Amino acid sequence: MSVHSEIKKITTETLRKMKFDKEKITMLTAYDFTTAKMVDAGGVDSILIGDSAANVMAGHETTLPITLNQMIYHTQCVVRGVERALVVADLPFGTYQSNPEKALDSAVRMMKEGGAHAIKIEGGKEIEESIRKIVNAGIPVCGHLGLTPQSIYQFGTYKVRAKEDAEAEKLISDAKLLEELGCFALVLEKIPADLAKKVTESISIPTIGIGAGQNCDGQVLVYHDMVGMNQGFSPKFLRRYLDLYTEITGAVSQYVKDVKSSDFPNEKESY
Ligand code: KIV
Repeated sequence: MSVHSEIKKITTETLRKMKFDKEKITMLTAYDFTTAKMVDAGGVDSILIGDSAANVMAGHETTLPITLNQMIYHTQCVVRGVERALVVADLPFGTYQSNPEKALDSAVRMMKEGGAHAIKIEGGKEIEESIRKIVNAGIPVCGHLGLTPQSIYQFGTYKVRAKEDAEAEKLISDAKLLEELGCFALVLEKIPADLAKKVTESISIPTIGIGAGQNCDGQVLVYHDMVGMNQGFSPKFLRRYLDLYTEITGAVSQYVKDVKSSDFPNEKESY
């Protein structure tokens, strides 16, 4: 009996080929086993264990508080639910910025303990040496430019980035640097669509956009946002495919009614 599964797994090489073939790449976040199983079964190419887990799972205002141990735990849960998609995990704030050795240690832990297939980190030139070190260790790195939420206190706002020429030029030069350093893909968050198009056309690695228009090589959304679990978050770029907040609260209140009225459990639901 073969130990190899029949399912063709998505790799970083698959994503590179998809860009070449002009086939759009799909990515969604997941932070737990059950969600990862559904997202994978739905056919997404890549699953991101985003540090947005700090917001969505833990209720923090920013992504800054989540720890490497917590991200590793989320990654372990996701990996167990995935058969096909490429699993990319965020390195959280403070685990790669200070020096390249620390960055490599964090990336190694994420791969070894978390079981991720690749890591994602935010920034360009400032973290050049960290990226070089991680890539040289054989770990696939996805870059992240534009609105990088780990820098929110420096930005002071979640508004669109790189509208001004100077920031746009830096972003283009950072994108080229990330390609040169060997990153396999690049997330572009909340930047003008024209700029995302320009970046996408000027590098050979795939760009995956969120709030960056339709000319990126792929798109990523936070799962909880796209299935409508977060009622209070409605940026322009978000398309909601379900209204799960209403569905779930409706189901819960029906359950409450059924128990209170002794309708549940009925005879068929009893031993
Ligand atoms: O943390 C996250 O979910 C992300 C995506 C928004 C790209 O970085």
